[in-house]
Amino acid sequence: MSPRSIVRALRAEGAGGASSGRIAASGSATSASLPASASPWDASTGLAAHSPTERDDWLSALHARLDRLRAAEPFKLGYPGWSATFPPELLAFFSHELNNYGDPEEDPVFDWHTKDLERELVDGFADLFGAAPADRWGYVTSGGSEGILAGLSRARARWPQARVYHSTAAHSCVARTARLLGLQPVAIATDARGEMDTDCLARQVRSDGARQAIVVATIGTTLTEAVDDVPRLRHALRQAGVSAVYVHADAAFAGIPLALRWGREVPFGLRPGGVDSLSFSGHKFLGVPFPCGLVIARAVQSEDGAVPLDPASDDLTASTPSNAVDMAAQPTDANPSDDDPVRLCGAPDLVSSSRSGHAALALWVQWRRFGREGLAELATRCRELAAHAEAQLKRAGWPAWRSHPDALTVVLRTPPAAVLRRWPMPAVRGWSHIVCTPGVTAERIDQFIAALSAAHQPEETPCEPS
Ligand SMILES: Cc1ncc(COP(=O)(O)O)c(C=O)c1O
Repeated sequence: MSPRSIVRALRAEGAGGASSGRIAASGSATSASLPASASPWDASTGLAAHSPTERDDWLSALHARLDRLRAAEPFKLGYPGWSATFPPELLAFFSHELNNYGDPEEDPVFDWHTKDLERELVDGFADLFGAAPADRWGYVTSGGSEGILAGLSRARARWPQARVYHSTAAHSCVARTARLLGLQPVAIATDARGEMDTDCLARQVRSDGARQAIVVATIGTTLTEAVDDVPRLRHALRQAGVSAVYVHADAAFAGIPLALRWGREVPFGLRPGGVDSLSFSGHKFLGVPFPCGLVIARAVQSEDGAVPLDPASDDLTASTPSNAVDMAAQPTDANPSDDDPVRLCGAPDLVSSSRSGHAALALWVQWRRFGREGLAELATRCRELAAHAEAQLKRAGWPAWRSHPDALTVVLRTPPAAVLRRWPMPAVRGWSHIVCTPGVTAERIDQFIAALSAAHQPEETPCEPS
């Protein structure tokens, strides 16, 4: 698509969405204030500047987009992301490349990276999840899914034949990732609380005749925030004769608020008897406004020491595009060989080579500006808000419940379509949820419940799963 057709597409989208979707009550949501200056990009590339008309085109497309974003903001309740006010100090960094290329523990030769901040993050969160100082390793990922990929790659390097057990409530990326790695995913039923049913797990591994198992424990399932019980599932596996277990905790949203609440002894901590690796998203509880995440693993994997994430990943560099320069015609000493491949900064263990330095920077800012205490305070407020939301929904006669008293997620009967159009949220077999992240206010929840009550008065009394 040419830049002009992109602008046309955006304008077309804007015509249908921006003006018609504008909400009078949203106040500041409609007061777009992009800088009106000419694009600095023209100056930096030395290309001729756009004509004023062309510039107006894409600037107005951006304005319309910003209007729509702002208008949608007050109706965010159904997904765990929140939009934290972006510290203005960060904006200047987006005019600079920041590439955390390769091994997080080895700095590149260039300065445009944030690996020092990345290591600080790994250390900070490893402390939070109880990993011993000499037993931790990790990096900033593109999101929770890449964290699961990293954890499962590590598990596969240890037990390539083991199956991957996860609950039926696990995120779909778990089974997808297992298959991608050539591992067989096996879904285990959940119990009444929405947690992996450990009796079913034991029966399944017995019938598989498994001696080794990889388990992805979900720490906060996507719909109900149910938390798989790691000590119980380890116990069930031992009873079923499985001697070697690798547990990855998918703690995408709930891991941080629960660890802040439960302390270093969280059952899904990074220690013997806990989990071997753990991942979470940076754009959920932590409020980074673009997808990112962190994976942390215990560094000491076995008697023989650390296990690489994916030894086979080096092969990915071997394919040659059809229009590649014929290296054989070039001076041969410049040709990389299998014995001596091009390594800009040792990246044998990672899925990606170039990685976002801005993600590490934004995560680090959230981590430092709130601090552990501040994040704990935010988590407490969110929990109180979730209790308020649950109580108010019940008072309004709308079926609602939380899977445990520390959950920030309130499950509710799916609202009528008219409400969902304004307040988008997932709907699975008649159930939906609201997620109390730090950006949500009591006022927003009350407005949602008022909209719900106005749209529909249910006749049923609230029902809770037993
Ligand atoms: C429990 C759970 N795991 C994994 C993911 C995937 O995380 P991400 O979207 O950051 O890749 C999600 C996303 O919603 C999730 O809810």
